[in-house]
Amino acid sequence: MATCVCVFISEGSSGVTGSISLVQNQEDSPTVIEGQLRGLTPNQRHGISVCTYGDARDSSSSCGPIFNPFGKTHGSPSDDPALRMEGDLGNITADASGNATIKVDESNIKIYGPHSVIGRSIVICAGADDEGRGGHENSLSTGNAGPRVAYGVIGLSNPTSA
Ligand SMILES: *[C@@H]1O[C@H](CO)[C@@H](O)[C@H](O)[C@H]1NC(C)=O
Ligand SMILES: *[C@@H]1O[C@H](CO)[C@@H](O)[C@H](O)[C@H]1NC(C)=O
Repeated sequence: MATCVCVFISEGSSGVTGSISLVQNQEDSPTVIEGQLRGLTPNQRHGISVCTYGDARDSSSSCGPIFNPFGKTHGSPSDDPALRMEGDLGNITADASGNATIKVDESNIKIYGPHSVIGRSIVICAGADDEGRGGHENSLSTGNAGPRVAYGVIGLSNPTSA
């Protein structure tokens, strides 16, 4: 079993924080992605994706585009995994107090193997991800989800930390 954690840093003054764990039992099993965010715009859907780099030198900008090692088109987690980017995670929905939880099993996200997400990042956006269907010039690359409000680097978790 491999366990990673991503601790979110607020982009600018967004105030969005939280953490997400990623657990993969073995090389061919889906990765269980589970965690909480807070400080989001209440009652709003927010795009969430794994991005290519775990580089926070220029905040979320240096995290790069959505992780897409096979050159696919942006889509929804409900689309065939073969037909969407590996980093496409869809939306999280904030409640009336700006909290959101995520719990998904994602077969496109790997911790083991050559396309591991270790050392990459997770980015949260201000708006909803249209999952490639919005007809906007950015729909097929980013889902036109607006500016990034939080980001964190995916690293191996310390089993002795809470
Ligand atoms: C994400 O939100 C957009 C806009 O509301 C919606 O079209 C899309 O279906 C949502 N996807 C998921 C997985 O919730
Ligand atoms: C929102 O999250 C914060 C921090 O985790 C928590 O203290 C608060 O009780 C949550 N609010 C609701 C309504 O669940």
